[in-house]
Amino acid sequence: MRTETPIIAARLNGRFSLHMQADGSVAAVSADLSVGLGQFSAAATARAAHLAIGLPLAALAGKSALAKQLHALVRRLAQHGLLDYHLGPPGGAQDLVVIEPQVADYWPQAAKLSSSDTIVLSRFAYLHRRGNEMVLQSPRAGALFRICDPAIAAALALLSRPHSIGKLRKQVGSLNFDLLGLLLDSAMLLKLGAKDGDGLRASEGDPNLVLWDFHDLLFHTRSTEGRHTDPVGGTYAYAGVMPPLPAVRPPWPGKTIALGKLAAPEPASPFARLLRERHSTREFDDRNPVTLAELAQFLGTTARVLSEWKGGRDVDGVPEVTYSSRPYPAAGSAYELELYLAVSNCEGLARGLYHYDAGGHALTAIDVPPQQLHAMFTSAAYAMGASGPPQVLITIAARFGRISWKYASIAYSLILKDAGVLLQTFYLAATDMGLGGCAIGTGNIERFAKMTGLDFHVEGPVGQFALGRGRKDA
Ligand SMILES: Cc1cc2nc3c(=O)[nH]c(=O)nc-3n(C[C@H](O)[C@H](O)[C@H](O)COP(=O)(O)O)c2cc1C
Repeated sequence: MRTETPIIAARLNGRFSLHMQADGSVAAVSADLSVGLGQFSAAATARAAHLAIGLPLAALAGKSALAKQLHALVRRLAQHGLLDYHLGPPGGAQDLVVIEPQVADYWPQAAKLSSSDTIVLSRFAYLHRRGNEMVLQSPRAGALFRICDPAIAAALALLSRPHSIGKLRKQVGSLNFDLLGLLLDSAMLLKLGAKDGDGLRASEGDPNLVLWDFHDLLFHTRSTEGRHTDPVGGTYAYAGVMPPLPAVRPPWPGKTIALGKLAAPEPASPFARLLRERHSTREFDDRNPVTLAELAQFLGTTARVLSEWKGGRDVDGVPEVTYSSRPYPAAGSAYELELYLAVSNCEGLARGLYHYDAGGHALTAIDVPPQQLHAMFTSAAYAMGASGPPQVLITIAARFGRISWKYASIAYSLILKDAGVLLQTFYLAATDMGLGGCAIGTGNIERFAKMTGLDFHVEGPVGQFALGRGRKDA
């Protein structure tokens, strides 16, 4: 039996269909959304109708006017996250692999490979069950791969050891160069050079990855926004499955010691009063914005470096390490957290993004596109259910390597604990200064990476805090 060579085809998300108007305007329409895509020729719109079952990407290549129009239309759909990419025989009857983009700008590109190349699976790639499907994912990858052919899953298992492509393809006929090239482009696979040995704990082409454990990088990308497409936030995912747990844990049975009589219920000190006064403020008085002097005081009180010191030599094989002391506690005194201030309305400070240099107690302006700053404020307002942006949005970013160098497998959990400590420090300082603030549980790590040019696994958001002068009537 002759097997047809698999091709890559783009397919429109099943919830959407394309609506074409007589004037050539095209929109992707679902039950509750319509996304305008622009105007196209009759030939392009007729061909685009194939997106419902699969439009071969080869149809977008070439210099003809039709190919260029189709390319523009398909790229627009891709930017809106409305496409999957299918690898299988022409006609779309039987998929071998379906690629689901996970980042906004994913575009399938097969890296060039030859039979003599040696490849191995990335240590960040994992195969797991999702419903009735088997999916290959990696926190590094811009897309996930739904594996529809068990022979391909078996070949991936073989790739726990390096294999030359020629030998591998003799063992698994359905593995073609396109699929291997796509997996390589997504960093699911690595190409090993002569000096790379067995590919174990390799830098994977980026020395900053050496310090990441698999579970920590996965946790980071799946508990933030930007590098996956699942809903994030208060989604009440289990509301239909089981009732909520009680707000307060029912007491244990047994003898109790009542504490109420032992201490007065009223706050006994200014600090106890501060704790009671602390609350979240989500609406801000934009006619009375926070001032630069207040911001300086807030940052100096909460986050400034107080001293630097050296240590570490006492442990065998450990070099001398420089540490710092700051107003809040931090695991191992690593102080891996950095503050980035998105300023919307602050008297004496222009709108923009700034890095707080905790050592020099200074702000450094970072040039960022205004629309990305706007998107950041919009997301923060949405997360708080607020009517407008916070006056200052503080992103707490971690320099991951600073803490994983010492703590490895528990590094990410320590980072989140450190972020919690800093958030409460912010709350208390804001309350003490008569300002208002609110922690924000979500943050987009891809947007931050784009704004700063820092790779998501080098330095990135692990928390946010909205700050400003609270509105008295809110
Ligand atoms: C880690 C953390 C994440 C939070 N995320 C959000 C958020 O995304 N949006 C929001 O409106 N409030 C957020 N909050 C604020 C809580 O909703 C608030 O602390 C809680 O309702 C108790 O109210 P209070 O702070 O006024 O005492 C967060 C608080 C914490 C500590």
